[in-house]
Amino acid sequence: MARKIQFADSEPLNEAGVQNKASKNGNSTTPDYRAQAQRLRPQREALPIFTARDAIIDHISNHPTVVVVGETGSGKTTQIPQYLLESGFTTRGQTAIAVTQPRRVAATSIAKRVAEEVGTPLGGRVGYTIRFEDCSSPLTQLRFCTDGLLLREILADPLLRRYSVVVLDEAHERTLRTDILLGMLKDIQRERARVAELNRSAQQPPDEPQADHRSRGTHVKFEEDAEQPAPAAAAVTDAVHGDVTGLDDLRVIVMSATLDAERFSAYFDSAPILYVAGRQFPVTTYYTATPQADYLDAAHLAALQIHTETPSASGDILVFLAGQEDIENVERLLIDSAASLPAGVPALLPCPIFAALPQAQQARVFDPAPEFTRKVILATNIAETSLTIPGIRHVIDSGVHKVRGFDPRVGESLLVEPISKSSARQRTGRAGREAAGHSYRLYTEADYAQLPEDSVPEIKRCQLTMVVLQLKAAGVRDPMQFDFMDRPSRKALRHALLELYALEALDDRGELTELGRWMSEFPLEPSYAKVIHASAASGCTREAIDIVALLSVDSLFYVPADKRDESNAAQMAFRSSDGDHLTFLNLLRAFTKAHGDKDWCQEHFVNRRNIKHVLDVRQQLSRLCVRLGMNVERSCGSDLTVVLRCFLAGFFHNCALLQPDGSYRSLNGSQTVHIHPGSSLFGKKTPAIFYDQLVFTNKLHARAVSAADPLWIANAAPKLYGRLASSQVH
Ligand code: CDP
Ligand code: MG
Repeated sequence: MARKIQFADSEPLNEAGVQNKASKNGNSTTPDYRAQAQRLRPQREALPIFTARDAIIDHISNHPTVVVVGETGSGKTTQIPQYLLESGFTTRGQTAIAVTQPRRVAATSIAKRVAEEVGTPLGGRVGYTIRFEDCSSPLTQLRFCTDGLLLREILADPLLRRYSVVVLDEAHERTLRTDILLGMLKDIQRERARVAELNRSAQQPPDEPQADHRSRGTHVKFEEDAEQPAPAAAAVTDAVHGDVTGLDDLRVIVMSATLDAERFSAYFDSAPILYVAGRQFPVTTYYTATPQADYLDAAHLAALQIHTETPSASGDILVFLAGQEDIENVERLLIDSAASLPAGVPALLPCPIFAALPQAQQARVFDPAPEFTRKVILATNIAETSLTIPGIRHVIDSGVHKVRGFDPRVGESLLVEPISKSSARQRTGRAGREAAGHSYRLYTEADYAQLPEDSVPEIKRCQLTMVVLQLKAAGVRDPMQFDFMDRPSRKALRHALLELYALEALDDRGELTELGRWMSEFPLEPSYAKVIHASAASGCTREAIDIVALLSVDSLFYVPADKRDESNAAQMAFRSSDGDHLTFLNLLRAFTKAHGDKDWCQEHFVNRRNIKHVLDVRQQLSRLCVRLGMNVERSCGSDLTVVLRCFLAGFFHNCALLQPDGSYRSLNGSQTVHIHPGSSLFGKKTPAIFYDQLVFTNKLHARAVSAADPLWIANAAPKLYGRLASSQVH
């Protein structure tokens, strides 16, 4: 290898052999579920959390909320839900346990593992539900879901009646949705406690003193129920919630991988904290001697260096990168290098894992590597705490992650930024799960010292429109007064309220309108729901759903670095002079007409994975629209400007006008915006444009851009932009 990275304080690398444990994990799909569960039992019982099983159950029985803190890999996510199941916290067909995850990948892969451990087919007793994908049944007792999905369930079921316990996992990540859930769950708990009290007093003979419900475990009560059925009491009716017969308290378990548990405890009225001891082997940390100009290049070189200088039996390599694009770049570099490894060096197998990756490929990271092969797992921070990948002994930490931000004036940003010290420690810890390991930080020790201790919770830096609509739909009258664990700025909340008002989801008094309630049914940013709503009147619902689904993925085209020209030429075939929205629609129509298969996608440089996701989203949205009484077959045929005009009903904020100097200036923030180079309108001049997103990277880029007529903008938001109808804009 010609180039090398110099790590400071490099020590000779540990050569202790470690077996690739994945082979023992039983990921095969044998139909003999029970035998499989039996086989996994010793593994379950060897986990650090097993010794705390009784204490955990005891605490959860006696407290409405418990905070559990434990090192990643100690068994929190896979075991605690099973302990609850085994201890009778659910009743089949009646109540279930929800376990929330910030990420889809974690929800699905953990559900799969837990189903194996329980010994049941996935989707039966153990299942998962994520946006646009449901693998569960009414008999599911353990449901893994994303935090966003549970939030949506609250809209349909404000007391979360079907759940006896909600486990909020990965709470330390403080995602926007986890934070909102924390507040909502606290409210629901209070309501459920009140209702449960009502039930208890209805069942109590009048002369008997009432038991203190806090000392009665929910599970104990269920066991009693099983033996002696409850007296056939008259239905208990509550003024607010109607028939609440049999509804019991809601237990909440907040789980975190970092030690900052006191804040969760304080938030939930001094809930007890359980610390689960982890099992952590020493990890030697190395820093680079000098700052690295290109962390992708450095990650690639470091992986090769580790691979060629240590025996592959010394464990697999886990590389933390910022996002899908990074991962695909390093994967390509590694595939090239892997093809020309010196003789005698084992093979190198890059395995990417990130949220948008399809299940089958995600599962590969858990599969054992073929013989004489070492896996290099390329991950986003998904592998930091939410997934434990067996067999890792070497961690390469790029020191960066992608951070979503929002500024009302400018729009969204998605920037690659340095991680926090807390993240760096978590990443390092991944190397020491099974034996002593090594962590290679692609930054200097001085740079590490400069990192912030923790990341800022998402709620303090994100667009809040969708969650404010959800809060409103869930009956929170004044989101400014909501019991946030960390309060977002008034400015951000006010912006969200104004945005919802402009979209007509809220009325003059700030109350939810009928349209607003309708929009809240969609698992989409409110602007898209508004477009779909507008499409009914314009007779283009089919196209509106298609385009909204198409916009749900990052990239429809696949642009290999070495075939940029061919890829661009292929894209030309779909290009619409009106811009990206119709270009995407052309692509979808061509794909459908050709019954697009793998070869078709390859030939047209279409990202097959993403287009399949589009089809799923389209199907789910269509079903939802049908349920809401819409005719999803109504099409505007070839007059596609109709659907473009519809988009302005939701995207009048995202418009820019052409200036005399040839630049575009945004209507709502007077910022200069640049059409993204990947857009079909790049370099084109048209009086006005609208865009799906404004993203700040090195400058303000409009993504997914189409041409608009200023008159459409004026008609879509007459109060805001009516002047465009009369003034001559150029
Ligand atoms: O949640 P926490 O980080 O505490 O641990 P966990 O996710 O419950 O993982 C416990 C154990 O299960 C780890 O040793 C994992 O390696 C194993 N596991 C697995 O082998 N396959 C999975 N798909 C998930 C977990
Ligand atoms: Mg976990």
